[in-house]
Formats: sequence, structure tokens, C-alpha cells
Amino acid sequence: GSGRTLVHGAGRLVDTVLREVAQAATWHGGQLRHQEFRPADERQVAGEADTGAGAYDLVLALRGTAPLPDQALAVETEFRRRYGDHADPLGDEGFVLARHGHGTVVLADAPAGLLYGLFHVVRLGESAFGADRPVERHRPAMRLRMLDHWDNVDVHHQTGQVERGYAGGSIFWRNGRPHHDPARLRAYGRLLAASGVNAVAVNNVNVHATEARLLTDRLGDVAAIAELLRPYGIRVYLSVSFAAPILLGGLSSADPLDEKVRAWWAGTTAQVYDTIPDFGGYVVKADSEGQPGPFAYGRSHADGANVLAEALAPFGGDVHWRAFVYNHRQDWRDRSTDRARAAFDHFAALDGQFRENVVLQVKHGPMDFQVREPVSPVIAAMPGTRLAVEFQVTQEYTGQQRHVCYLAPWWREVLEFGPWGAGGPTVATVAAGPATDDDGSAPTAGGGLVAVSNVGDDPFWTGHPLAQANLYAFGRLAWAPRLDPSAILDEWIDLTFVPSATADPELLRRTLHEIMDDSWRTYERYTTPLGVGFMVRPGHHYGPDVDGYEYTAWGTYHFADRDGIGVDRTRRSGTGFTGQYPQPWSDVYESLEQCPDELLLFFHHVPYGHRLHSGSTVIQHIYDTHFAGVEQVAETRRRWERLSAAGLVDQGLDARVRERLDEQLRSAQEWRDQVNAYFLRKSGVPDAQGRRIH
Ligand code: GCU
Repeated sequence: GSGRTLVHGAGRLVDTVLREVAQAATWHGGQLRHQEFRPADERQVAGEADTGAGAYDLVLALRGTAPLPDQALAVETEFRRRYGDHADPLGDEGFVLARHGHGTVVLADAPAGLLYGLFHVVRLGESAFGADRPVERHRPAMRLRMLDHWDNVDVHHQTGQVERGYAGGSIFWRNGRPHHDPARLRAYGRLLAASGVNAVAVNNVNVHATEARLLTDRLGDVAAIAELLRPYGIRVYLSVSFAAPILLGGLSSADPLDEKVRAWWAGTTAQVYDTIPDFGGYVVKADSEGQPGPFAYGRSHADGANVLAEALAPFGGDVHWRAFVYNHRQDWRDRSTDRARAAFDHFAALDGQFRENVVLQVKHGPMDFQVREPVSPVIAAMPGTRLAVEFQVTQEYTGQQRHVCYLAPWWREVLEFGPWGAGGPTVATVAAGPATDDDGSAPTAGGGLVAVSNVGDDPFWTGHPLAQANLYAFGRLAWAPRLDPSAILDEWIDLTFVPSATADPELLRRTLHEIMDDSWRTYERYTTPLGVGFMVRPGHHYGPDVDGYEYTAWGTYHFADRDGIGVDRTRRSGTGFTGQYPQPWSDVYESLEQCPDELLLFFHHVPYGHRLHSGSTVIQHIYDTHFAGVEQVAETRRRWERLSAAGLVDQGLDARVRERLDEQLRSAQEWRDQVNAYFLRKSGVPDAQGRRIH
């Protein structure tokens, strides 16, 4: 139609909606105009006069602000009819979408809902304006959808500016100062909101000296970021050091039960809220990989978390306390210590001891973001604690944004896993919290979904342009965990490449699907087999090194010898880790017969000749998958070349992707050759197909 849009409502986020609509108008050749209605008598009309009922192509209206425009009222009536008189409230972020008559209508209870509704309309594209669509209600499954930046203010001598960052420097900081590029940060806020993210932690969980000061004398830097992200409904969190009372407060102790320490946290936190009234809270990595924590004072992690929670509670803030606690100074000779057990051993017994505004942030697997791991048993062990599940969007162990690795299929598997068996609650429902809470009654709500960010100041945001899809998919799955990863990819392709504007949209879409849909499994094929994990270069974690961590203190072993491979984590003869799971998994993982192939070496040590459910032996599986994985990468590169020959993608982007695909192929070959050679030499078992192994 004419593209006329009506925005009804007021507030800061409604202003963002107006700006977005205005911007959309420029993209679409100025066809869209907006009219802004303020509630009641404060009515303003911008552009043309109201031409009456049914005249708008798009109406975005806040329900609470009577009188509703006619089209909105009609949809409101239909919504009540469809969902019953007591239609659940939409919440802070939900919206209703319908096509009514000749217009598309978005209704929300709060301004953020209008913003998400608008982005949904953008996502639907022309189909939002096509045939009638019945009323749909959209509400996020997770109240909290957070990205954790592992960014340092200074360039750190060991980890660089962004720890595990593969997209240039930090988007927030440069040369020890805030990154003065407000336009870029605003664009970032927009990108995140369009993906569904509503919270960001702005610094690394490993808090170094400069970064510790963000809590006090450098709080203004954080406030500046909060100011730029706020118009997109994004709240800012800070990673803090547990030793802050000593480092910043000059106290002699950080003992959580010490009155002076409590008072310091309370006073410091009050100042934070003076400066940033909508501050989200703290993220804490304590007693982990050298970070300070409550163990130094003989206190528990509940004591530690609660002192921060108590300081945040009056202001509605949360503390995200990470469960990534394990002994990284382990003796590799000691077969009884098992890093996989650590989080459960430290935290399960503390269930029920955390304050209501503590969120225990649990990595989705028991180890550390490997290409394949079982779900962490902690997720099933703490019914009396708010849990957030942590993913890693940054590709530390999945190709470091040099390899194409679309992670949504992996996350989707994790989210729909039922720790108590099929039909019971899933990982997604644990993170979301009890359904009765989605009206917004916060205290018992789940902790949500969190991910380590993959964004930097790179022009493509994520280093590898195709890695943007992971960022987008994370936000979408946190909003709606049951979305199909392939459908999410379709959305991302349409939003990113605008296929309709290219000469051959079908070729573009099809090729991107061929390249990305199965790329996580491809990555798994040419790297570590059957759930055993690691085998990476120590330190930076890129590229193969089968024994890289084998005799180290980090607790990440494969135990390969001439006869077999894998970690015995059974109760019968191993570390007993399988006993941390409820039934049925406790028995399924314990059993050599029932354990799924893809996790076999995570739970069992087996001879190379052990036969998998797939029919192959372990050793032949290793050879076959490594040859196949490299073939698939070569095919990926050929596919991309066809796209680029057809001129379907922007030149700069094309050049970047080609450079990365060359490296991915080189690296995949290196993985194949090292892993295959290693296991041929260890086992002496030749490849059944007689292929060349070095
Ligand atoms: C991994 C990663 C570290 C990070 C840690 C964490 O071990 O390699 O860089 O600090 O996870 O999650 O805290």
C-alpha cells in the first residue's frame, strides 16, 4: 500500500520505534510515513492528517493508552475472542500481531513489546502485509537474554583485548578508554534488539586491575554504554571481582561474612544505581582459573553470592554467579579427579541456599564449550535455585570464526534435551523458569539464556561474516527455544542479504543453507571424535594437538593408548560422573550399550575395535569422519565460489569469506592428518579403505 504507519503510545522506547519506522521509510524509497499519537489530549500528528479507520498499512499501538485507534481496537477484540476474556497479559516485551482488513497491527502492553513487534514485522517482510493472518501472541520464553562480552578495557598481555575474541578489538573499549563511536554502539543496540537480546555484560569475567575499576571510579564509562543501549531495551551488567573490597575499597579482606565487606558492597552498589538506575547487576567468576572467591575465607559460594545479592536486592538487580568452578591445578596422574564432576560437586549441595536474586550461571556442558558434550548435570540438580544456561557464541573451540560453524542446531539439541527423560522439563524450561511466572513476577523466574559474545569492532561485526548467524540465532532461540534452526537461518539470510534484490534469490538461499545447515556436524567430523573433546593447541585453542593437554593440569584428557581411547566416567569402574544424572540418563550413560555414539568417548574408555551403533568400529569411524569432514569443507568452498561467480554477494564480504574458507580447508586438512596419523600410529589398525594416512 502507501506504507502509512501509525504509532500510538509514548515513552523512550516508543521514540525508538518512531525512529526505526522513519529509517525503514528511507530504505523503502520514502514510501512509509509515520504518524505519532500521544495518549489522550497530548495528541500529535506528524505528516499527514488521520484519514480514519482502516487507513493505515501498519499500526503499532500500546494497549493501555486509550482511546485505541480503530484498527488496533478491532485486533484487540479479536485477540480477546481468541484467547478468552482473561487473555494473559503480554508482559514487558510481548506483543500481538495480526493482519486486519488492509492493515497490519502490532499491540503491546509496554514499549519494548512494540519495538520487538516492529522488528518482527521487519523479519516477516512482505508477508506481514499479505493475506489475512489470525491474531498471534508472541512472548519471550526467557525473561533474560544476555550476551556476555569477554572484553578488556586494556589490551591484556596474555589474552589480548577480547578474551577468545575473533572479531577485532572491543566494540566498547579502545586504548584503555571508552570507544568513542556512539553511532556504532547504537547500531549494535539495534542489532541486538532485532535479534531479541535484552542484556549485555560489558567486560570480561576474568576481571583485571583496570577493569575492576569500572565498578567505582570508572563507572561513568559504563553509564555511557548504558545510555546508548537503553533506547533498544538493553540493560547493562558488569563483571566484578570478588576481591573488589580489597582492590578498590582498601579493606584487608573480602570475607563475605565480614560486616565491613557487606557494607562496602551495599554502599558501592547504591552508587552504581545512582549513576545507572536501570543497571542489571553483577556477573561473577569466583574461585575459578585464578579469580578470587569465597574459598579463601573458608566460605561457601552461597555466602559469596548472597553478599552481592543483598547489595543488589533493594534496586532490583541480580547477581549472575558462574558455576564454572573446577581445579585447574590438577595432577594428571591422579585418575580420581574428574573436571566434569566439578560444578555439580561444588554447587548441587548449595541448592536452596541462594537468595532470590542470585542466578547461578551454568555452562551448558560439564566441561567447556566443546563441539560435543552431554548436558551439564547441574541443570537437573538445583530445583530451588534460579539457573541461567550459558552458551558460547564466540567460537573458541569451534573454529574461532575462521571456520563456518552454524551453532544453532547444537544449541537447539541442548535446549530440547530432557534431563529427566522424554516428556519432562527440558533445559529450555529450566532456564525459562516456571511458566506461571511469565506475567512478570520476577523472584522465582528462571535465570534465562546467556552467551559469550562473538562481536568486536570488525566491519562485519563477527570476523567471519557468516558467524553473524550465530549471534542472531542465539537471540532468537532465547526468545523462542523451539524455533527450527533452519528457519532461523532463513530469517537471517533474508534480513542480511535481501535475496529478493539479487539476480538469483533461490541460488543464494539454497547455497547458504548447503554451506551452513550441517556445518557444526562437519566441524565435529574433522576435529575431536565421539565426544572426547579438546585435542587443541594449548593456550589459544586453535588447530589440532592431540596430546596438547594430555599431561597438563587442566583436567582435559582422552587417555588414548595402543588399545583404546576415552574417559571412563562410569560408576562401575570410572570417576562416577554418570551418577550425577537423574534417571534415565544416569543408566543410559553408564551403559556401554545404550550410550549414544556421539558421546561414547566422553563416558567410556573402549578398545579401537569397539563397534558403534552405526555399525562402524571406533577407529574406522575416526578415519571415515575425518576424511568426510575435509571433503565437506572442500565442497563448501566450491559452493561459495559458485555464488561469488554469480555476483550474488557484496565484493568486500565475498573476499572476507573466501579468505576464511581457504583457511578452513587448510585447517581441516591439518586436523584430519594429525588425528588420523596419531590414531593409526597408536593403534596400528589400518584404514579399511586404504586411504593415505601420514
Ligand atoms: C574457558 C576459556 C577462558 C574463560 C573460561 C571461562 O576456559 O578458555 O578464556 O575465561 O572459559 O568461561 O571463564
